[in-house]
Amino acid sequence: MAEFSAQRLGLPWPASVFRDDDGALRFAGADIRELAAEFGTPAYLVDEDEFRGRARDIKRVFQAAFAEIGADLDVYYASKAFLSVAVARWITQDGLNLDTASGGELTIALAGGVPGENIGLHGNNKSDDELRLALNHSVGRIVVDSLAEVHQVVRIAQELGVQQVPVMVRLTTGVHAGGHEYISTAHEDQKFGLSIAAGAASSPSPAWVALEEILRHPELRLMGVHSHIGSQIQQSAGFAAAAEAVLTMRAEFFAATGHLLAEVDLGGGFGIAYLPGEVPMDLEIVAKEMAQAVLAMNVNDAGEPLPLPRFSIEPGRVIAGPAGITVYEVGTVKQVRASEDLVRTYVSVDGGMSDNIRPALYGAHYHAVLANRQSAAEPMLARVVGKHCESGDIVVHEVQLPSDIQAGDLLAVAATGAYGRAMSSNYNMLTRPPVIAVQDGSGRVLIRRETYQDFLSLDQG
Ligand code: LLP
Repeated sequence: MAEFSAQRLGLPWPASVFRDDDGALRFAGADIRELAAEFGTPAYLVDEDEFRGRARDIKRVFQAAFAEIGADLDVYYASKAFLSVAVARWITQDGLNLDTASGGELTIALAGGVPGENIGLHGNNKSDDELRLALNHSVGRIVVDSLAEVHQVVRIAQELGVQQVPVMVRLTTGVHAGGHEYISTAHEDQKFGLSIAAGAASSPSPAWVALEEILRHPELRLMGVHSHIGSQIQQSAGFAAAAEAVLTMRAEFFAATGHLLAEVDLGGGFGIAYLPGEVPMDLEIVAKEMAQAVLAMNVNDAGEPLPLPRFSIEPGRVIAGPAGITVYEVGTVKQVRASEDLVRTYVSVDGGMSDNIRPALYGAHYHAVLANRQSAAEPMLARVVGKHCESGDIVVHEVQLPSDIQAGDLLAVAATGAYGRAMSSNYNMLTRPPVIAVQDGSGRVLIRRETYQDFLSLDQG
């Protein structure tokens, strides 16, 4: 098809994605048809350079902004967004730390060679075994989420004979932010953290009670406090407001106890583009605003500056999301009269809600393009659906696709790198797709495709 010339797709696709002269998509230097032939469909593709470049960029940008106010900052990649042994290795090689939220994530991180001291462990309901694993590997920080957990960590530390376990307290700042109620985490009526809001006038806040309790135990070392307000956030105001609340509390705690908290984690949640035309937040601006917010609040009662804490952030989606796409093969194409004046074409693909639950769970919107060829056919309103036994099994709610799309075509969906594979399931006993890292034109398997044999080997008959 000589009439088409090579063109970059732009956001929400990784920078390496363009449509070649022959009409097919190229991804990290590879022809998408060849990747599909080699690894099968559906497949998650990760642009390794994009992923790692994003990790390094966010670190550079935040460290520079905080250096301007004289503060140090570490970046913990929130591995819940997507984790494999290779990813854990990349993160460490690129100078980031890693945040885990379960014993499983911790195990993969350790298998990837992440030093225990570079790992944080989260969770609102950690098991004794998860804490034992963390303590046995001397993780750099345990973020406690309740008063009961303070005592639980003390008990496990005594059992293992360790002292000075580094702990942070997860605070609930009351700042409400995020793309969907289920992914907002710091308003009052939800399960995470300890509120910094006092109850009755004279009674200390739950966060304060936990902080003081930690100071009483030689098994624990109070490192600092943590705040994460939500996910897929597209305005920086919430980050700055939460940062102010945390620094204010730190100053008050210092005034009352003489203990100056050494570290403050400001969480993750930075939003990305999922659709063409969406403009993601400029992280340089966000970082500067956060740095200025903490600086303004870093004062004692008399308005004198306090020593700054060491800061950290925990981005997940903003690193992994834009670096990943999913490639499906088209099967059934069906025209449905949606209403009197609307015909919608349902394009079924060989995956669905088991490899991307986000549309069904959060009403998330994605973008897709025909990937194996370019078409001059009229665009039509399409809905991309999966192969599961549910009508909510939607991959892309609404997208214009060429009207000659047919079985055997390849479809690529953008920005699936975060919380796609991570939240995948075997619903309807579909095998999970592989994750393929692509770099300089060739792909390698990070996580292999599941097989029916995997199902049978788990099933004890
Ligand atoms: N730190 C903590 C304590 C978190 O709970 C999270 C996300 C992050 C960092 C990373 O947030 P990120 O930078 O990736 O937004 N499954 C949902 C997202 C849930 C996020 C949960 N916590 C989704 O698919 O949108």
